[in-house]
Amino acid sequence: MQKKFLDFDTNVFLAPMAGITDYPMRKLVASKGTVNLYSEMVAINAINRKNPKTYKIADVRNEPYPVVVQLVGNDPDLFSEAAKLVADLGAYSLDINMGCPVKKIVGNNSGSALMKDLSLASKIIEKTVKATPLKVSVKFRKGWDNNSINAVEFAKMCEESGASYVTVHGRTRAQGYSGTADWDIIRQVKEAIKIPVIGNGDITTVYDAKKMIEQTNVDGVMVGRGALGNPWFLGQIHNYINNNQTPTPISPTELKEALIQQLNDMVSFYGDKMAVSISRKYVCWYSKNLRDAKRFRETYTKIYDYDLAIKAIEDYFTKQEEGIFL
Ligand SMILES: Cc1cc2nc3c(=O)[nH]c(=O)nc-3n(C[C@H](O)[C@H](O)[C@H](O)COP(=O)(O)O)c2cc1C
Repeated sequence: MQKKFLDFDTNVFLAPMAGITDYPMRKLVASKGTVNLYSEMVAINAINRKNPKTYKIADVRNEPYPVVVQLVGNDPDLFSEAAKLVADLGAYSLDINMGCPVKKIVGNNSGSALMKDLSLASKIIEKTVKATPLKVSVKFRKGWDNNSINAVEFAKMCEESGASYVTVHGRTRAQGYSGTADWDIIRQVKEAIKIPVIGNGDITTVYDAKKMIEQTNVDGVMVGRGALGNPWFLGQIHNYINNNQTPTPISPTELKEALIQQLNDMVSFYGDKMAVSISRKYVCWYSKNLRDAKRFRETYTKIYDYDLAIKAIEDYFTKQEEGIFL
């Protein structure tokens, strides 16, 4: 039985990933199953300056499925302005990034740096909630480092400040993406607050997703890296945890078609040259379990032309049809 998660279609979320969860990626993942989608993070200073690149990231008006748009920054007034702008650009709801570990972001007292300043974090949430009728959620980590684990206190602050739900990634800022995610801290957060909690970190199989729900009692799950090169994964999780359906293997032809669809949508969105360049990382992810992947990647890296890129993808994945793929 599907657990209800506010007014979303499912309790399964594609994680916000800068440089990844752009329009072509969201469109592809949405076409493969029932899932909620996040944007890449949107810098509030840049959107308020009407930076065209940032506008493009935040503009989800043409997307037929709901998109949670994530904001990053540290000035409560600018958050309030940015909230209005992204609402006009079609956001279904808003998320505030209080978990990003990247130096450039924390150096600006944003992202996970806000876990060290609860009073500012609270002001930001309150101002954003006041500025928009949309739901406002917060995504944060276990804490800044092992000496300052404060996810439970932070979650309570988010709830008191008006957040509709929270997402907890079970790593500290100091861990970055290394080590393992601590699911027990997610359980503690769930136990401490009444608003819904999404658990995040290290879900790489549908069974992990179910295990996280059982161990932590979270209302929803969020997956990032597990979806790279596997746009079916989120829909498979939805089907497994809510309908008890186990996933069927994906064939090389299906991988090829998904990769080509993504490349073509990137061409429309970014132009040929940039699309081919961005597609290199996807080629690595899509071929990760296939034979001869190293040689294919080396060849593909030297390709700059769209027609040659398509031909290389066609040739490689067609040759794979006889392989075993998990
Ligand atoms: C390339 C990359 C970019 C990311 N960008 C963001 C971001 O913009 N905002 C955010 O809140 N988290 C970001 N994250 C963190 C993910 O949303 C997620 O919390 C993290 O990857 C842990 O989940 P996973 O183990 O399922 O990957 C990023 C992660 C990766 C790998």
